[in-house]
Amino acid sequence: MNRMAVPFNNHRRLELLNNNMISMNDIFTFYYSSIGKKVLMSLTGLFLIIFLTEHLVGNLLLFANDSGKMYEVYGDFLVSNPVIRFIEIILAIAIFGHVIFGVILWLKNRKVRSVKYISFRLKDNAKLASRTTILTGTVILIFLYVHLTTFFIPTRFSVEKVSTYELVVQAFSNPWYGFFYLIALFILGYHLRHGFQSAFQTLGLRNKKYTPFLDLIAFIVWCLIPLGFAAIPIYFFFFHHAASTAIMGGY
Ligand code: HEM
Repeated sequence: MNRMAVPFNNHRRLELLNNNMISMNDIFTFYYSSIGKKVLMSLTGLFLIIFLTEHLVGNLLLFANDSGKMYEVYGDFLVSNPVIRFIEIILAIAIFGHVIFGVILWLKNRKVRSVKYISFRLKDNAKLASRTTILTGTVILIFLYVHLTTFFIPTRFSVEKVSTYELVVQAFSNPWYGFFYLIALFILGYHLRHGFQSAFQTLGLRNKKYTPFLDLIAFIVWCLIPLGFAAIPIYFFFFHHAASTAIMGGY
């Protein structure tokens, strides 16, 4: 190899970089800080998925057909247990971190895309899901606000004891509320589908040997978990609501 080629190439590269007005330092700072944020997004995202799985399992008690007795016991346990209080703080930090890092990364990507790659726009466009992540994430945030003010705030901060089961029955007797959940859960599935795959890619866990297993977990996460949640408003509106109306009509 020609020994002179190395300094010349490096010099040329620096010259090119200077022409584009970006320094090596900028590139390293951008690269490492973005990777760091992506890793934190992936870890908080995976933690939120674990929460969602637990939350779904707990909420499946609504189907116990015991007029909410078991669900009430579960709800009382969540309200009174100090360990759960602590986990809720971690959960709030994880949600907050996930949102903040997501917005920072989105802003950075937007800036880079619009300034540096104008001529390669089509080629460099991320896939639809990745580009709409900020939108789907915003819808989920709105959903969370509505959801927490309906269920979490009354069960945790009311002076008088609130029946968690009654809250659920009341909320889903409103068809618009249930419909809003179905839309939000569809969007959640879309968000999870992209998020789960990119988390595994970021964390370097994509491996040929484990791909079928990871694909199965991904399917459970983005498809079955939202479907499980969606079954709740459907059940309460069509079956529970219908049954209680029939009973009331009978008296
Ligand atoms: C139809 C399905 C759902 C029902 C019936 C439901 C019900 C509830 C109830 C009753 C609470 C307050 C009591 C508790 O802490 O468990 C709660 C809290 C919460 N829910 Fe849901 N939920 C549903 C879906 C979701 C979804 C899809 C998400 C996230 C995207 C979510 C996120 C949360 C969070 C973050 C809390 C507060 C943390 C906690 O203490 O558990 N929920 N939910």
